[in-house]
Amino acid sequence: MAEHQINTIGVLTSGGDAPGMNAAIRAVVRRGLSSGMKVKGILKGYQGLLNEEIIDMSAKDVSDTIERGGTILYTARCAEMRTPEGQERAAQICRENGIDGLVVIGGDGSFAGAQKLANLGINTIGVPGTIDLDIACTEYTIGFDTAVNTAMEAIDKVRDTSTSHERCSIIEVMGRGAGYIALWCGIANGAEDILLPEKYDYDEQKIVNNIIASRKAGKKHHIIINAEGIGHSEAMAKRIEAATGIETRATILGHMQRGGSPSCKDRVYASMMGAMAVDLLSQGKTCRVVGYRHGHFVDFDINEALAMKKDVSPYMWEVCNSLSHNYTKHSDTLNFD
Ligand code: ADP
Ligand code: F6P
Repeated sequence: MAEHQINTIGVLTSGGDAPGMNAAIRAVVRRGLSSGMKVKGILKGYQGLLNEEIIDMSAKDVSDTIERGGTILYTARCAEMRTPEGQERAAQICRENGIDGLVVIGGDGSFAGAQKLANLGINTIGVPGTIDLDIACTEYTIGFDTAVNTAMEAIDKVRDTSTSHERCSIIEVMGRGAGYIALWCGIANGAEDILLPEKYDYDEQKIVNNIIASRKAGKKHHIIINAEGIGHSEAMAKRIEAATGIETRATILGHMQRGGSPSCKDRVYASMMGAMAVDLLSQGKTCRVVGYRHGHFVDFDINEALAMKKDVSPYMWEVCNSLSHNYTKHSDTLNFD
């Protein structure tokens, strides 16, 4: 529990930006002000905190931001924050600036920084912001919905040209070590093959056989969605073209997946989570992260949240495969997890 009433809160965004972060910042600022707190924006994540790039924020400062991609507070990755000296200095800067509650919007790495600050006595709440959906304690992370829709639309476009040229297309989507964007696009785009870091067995011959079989069955294109965690799409395209004799191109969607105006879901959920972070601080809570589970916004202890593990749903993976190509169902005793 926080030791005293919170008068001033700080808010920062850290790690990769994600569409919807501005909605979360806006909610922190306005919920904080309406709860009688002062609100300070910390620019450029932990790097900006260590450089004392701290500004006062009014309700007007977040006008016309909910529809904007990126983060108005900017973001950064900061090596110094990984060191005990950096963490101690960051906590000291919070104290010197009167910041007695801090909202950190970012991914697992940013939460690890938040955990360190909480241990050093700064009342800290994490809000999950990453397009990767790779935070174990929550079924939703800010930015995933927009990013996966951006990727889906781009893949539809690649598919048009792939069909016209009767090609195989390998499309690489982001996600760092996680395959959620690839899995969702695999289903949404009706891809013929989906390669996830969590599931890939590196049996390229199987893919080659699939391509040849689907061409024989009259398919005009063959879409392979490859997750960034597997990567090497260009080299894979060359090998597949050589093995199948079918023209193959690689497209790496890259950072376009991080930009753009947030979807309605990202605006609404990010607003709820930003407001909830402030409410948790008001209630005297610290060292918590906000999450979304089973239809509810919830909070967890940061230490417990960081220790949780997440995996791709076996049922979703099995269904995804069953809808994609010549697939035979092997078992009727599926667990719907
Ligand atoms: P994300 O928050 O999206 O997972 P990163 O993993 O890049 O992105 O982490 C963002 C920032 O969080 C890092 O640049 C660093 O400043 C801070 N951070 C990451 N890991 C730790 C850690 N173990 N301890 C303290 N700070 C950390
Ligand atoms: O975590 C978000 C993310 O876009 C990952 O999907 C990707 O691996 C990484 O960030 C890319 O980081 P950077 O912007 O530093 O290239």
